[in-house]
Amino acid sequence: MEPVGIFYGSTYGMTAKVAERIKKAFGRSKVEVFNLKDATIEDMKKFKNLVFGTSAWGIGEMQDDWEYFIDNLPTLDFTDRKLALFGLGDQKEYPESFVDGLGTLYCRLPDKSCVVGETSTNGYDFYFSLAAKGDKFIGLVLDEHHQKDVTDERIKKWVVQLKKEFV
Ligand SMILES: Cc1cc2nc3c(=O)[nH]c(=O)nc-3n(C[C@H](O)[C@H](O)[C@H](O)COP(=O)(O)O)c2cc1C
Repeated sequence: MEPVGIFYGSTYGMTAKVAERIKKAFGRSKVEVFNLKDATIEDMKKFKNLVFGTSAWGIGEMQDDWEYFIDNLPTLDFTDRKLALFGLGDQKEYPESFVDGLGTLYCRLPDKSCVVGETSTNGYDFYFSLAAKGDKFIGLVLDEHHQKDVTDERIKKWVVQLKKEFV
């Protein structure tokens, strides 16, 4: 597998911690983690396999650093690249906008054909999410407020899947 670059936006550090746990789950594969607020599009261009992570804010808002960064993405050629997405949210406090930041990030991608890493919505309890398409989420969804006991298991399963879907 080609090296993996994980880029995250995080306000209180929850997404940052998860990004490190995803890196750990890749084991001996070459993986680098970047806080988006210190990253450039040139950093992203170094990787054939990308992972983007965001938390959810306001009404369908991505974490702030994604809001600032997202307009750089059209200068990245997604041909021959794979991209997996993960999002954090709170399904009890925000059941009608659960992980919407992740859904918005997906909507605003200039090229969606490279996206891999879909997961099932089974095991979550919410009314609506911009990140859900039928019974699938468009990436890995984690709730560190109410389901942190299953986070490691979800990450592990997702990384096994990505190792097959990445280039
Ligand atoms: C003001 C506010 C708004 C939020 N809005 C949402 C939301 O719409 N949907 C959701 O799933 N979580 C929402 N959350 C929960 C955060 O996404 C969650 O706490 C996340 O783990 C924070 O991660 P971070 O520290 O990496 O930014 C909100 C939290 C706050 C404080």
